[in-house]
Amino acid sequence: MSSEASKKYIVHPGGKVTGKVRVPGDKSISHRSIMLGSLAEGTTEVTGFLEGEDALATLAVFRGMGVDIIGPDKGKVTIHGVGMHGLKAPTSSLNLGNSGTSMRLLSGLLAGQGFDVTMTGDKSLSSRPMKRVTDPLALMGAKIDTTDGKPPLTLHKTSSLKAIHYDLPMASAQVKSCLLLAGLYAEGKTSVTEPAPTRDHTERMLEGMGYQVEKEGSTVSLVGGGKLTATNIDVPADISSATFFMVAAAIAPGSDITLEHVGVNPTRIGVINILQEMGANITLTNEKVTGGEPVADIRIQYAPLKGIRIPEDQVPLAIDEFPALFIAAACAEGQTVLTGAEELRVKESDRIQVMADGLTTLGIDAKPTEDGIVINGGVIGSGEVDSHSDHRIAMSFAIAGLQAGGSIQINDCANVATSFPGFVDLANKVGLQIEEIDG
Ligand code: S3P
Repeated sequence: MSSEASKKYIVHPGGKVTGKVRVPGDKSISHRSIMLGSLAEGTTEVTGFLEGEDALATLAVFRGMGVDIIGPDKGKVTIHGVGMHGLKAPTSSLNLGNSGTSMRLLSGLLAGQGFDVTMTGDKSLSSRPMKRVTDPLALMGAKIDTTDGKPPLTLHKTSSLKAIHYDLPMASAQVKSCLLLAGLYAEGKTSVTEPAPTRDHTERMLEGMGYQVEKEGSTVSLVGGGKLTATNIDVPADISSATFFMVAAAIAPGSDITLEHVGVNPTRIGVINILQEMGANITLTNEKVTGGEPVADIRIQYAPLKGIRIPEDQVPLAIDEFPALFIAAACAEGQTVLTGAEELRVKESDRIQVMADGLTTLGIDAKPTEDGIVINGGVIGSGEVDSHSDHRIAMSFAIAGLQAGGSIQINDCANVATSFPGFVDLANKVGLQIEEIDG
């Protein structure tokens, strides 16, 4: 499912970003709309769906399990839900491409189905840790084979799952969501306690579909055996994609850009909090709640940035935004220190090492640490960097071009299509100068 063809970006230096744009739909919410819409009774109409490879991988596997899904067509998807027990055994293994969210959430959702199923992924996904989901699922009675704790995963049919209480060892919305989805099929009350707040889209969407979810402090729980009722889902623009343009405006003098209808769920706005602490000029307007999710237009105007010590409580709230935030840190005056972010080492790439390597190539003093990085703001030069097939690394170095002394060549950029189809066109429309080269 993930892009096999290789792509390079040549980013020409200089420029600023201006205008009003809407970035593609939220990836996390798009995945969940297909999963829960498929299990619901009735027809779910989704608008703003992300037509990126990761969310399309989720859509394709539910089609493969017998769900009638129409679209996507300009972000519109119609899902004819089959009910909690209506999924059919797929005829072949499920290929989830680059998508960790698909594999981890599906592990929970499929653990309680009455069929065997194997899930595979691309090279990056095949190297990502899965014991974080298979261990607690085993406690619930699931039978899952891994390959040394990594994909492929094979889930074997089980007669029933039992509810558990689980203390998450790491702040992970994927693991929390996996267990809640398994909990839908378990006997009794499944509860999960998280060490720090993580994105709560699963909980919000379950509630939006009429499922009772209890929250008490850092514990969320639900009782298995209920049903979901179809509803309409308006997927907001993805704050993780908006981030590239927020950072672009924050580093390039003269910039003034507005990102429209962006999801600003409090569990996702670490990037706004961190950039504001660094001195960025950000304003939120048109704030409203749509389909249980807060959204707003985000305007960001250039203002000089300063280095900061990033508060650890912001880490899970900005977990996907760090590659771009490291570019902001490279352009800030002084030192930025990140700690408590070891999870970055097990994303689509080791984002601490890969960003440190690329920044160093571009002449920035960036020292990786076990659980973070120390970046001294400086002057970005030119050179050739490798994204290691990681979409967010590729886009982060692309925006660095705004403040670079010369061209930046970024290798291995095809996976940008997993989360941000049309990135280069949109980026060039607002003022960047990126050339995309096949092969
Ligand atoms: C996601 C949760 C995060 C995030 C990923 C999407 C989700 O992962 O990095 O891109 O949709 O639940 P973790 O919860 O494992 O940190």
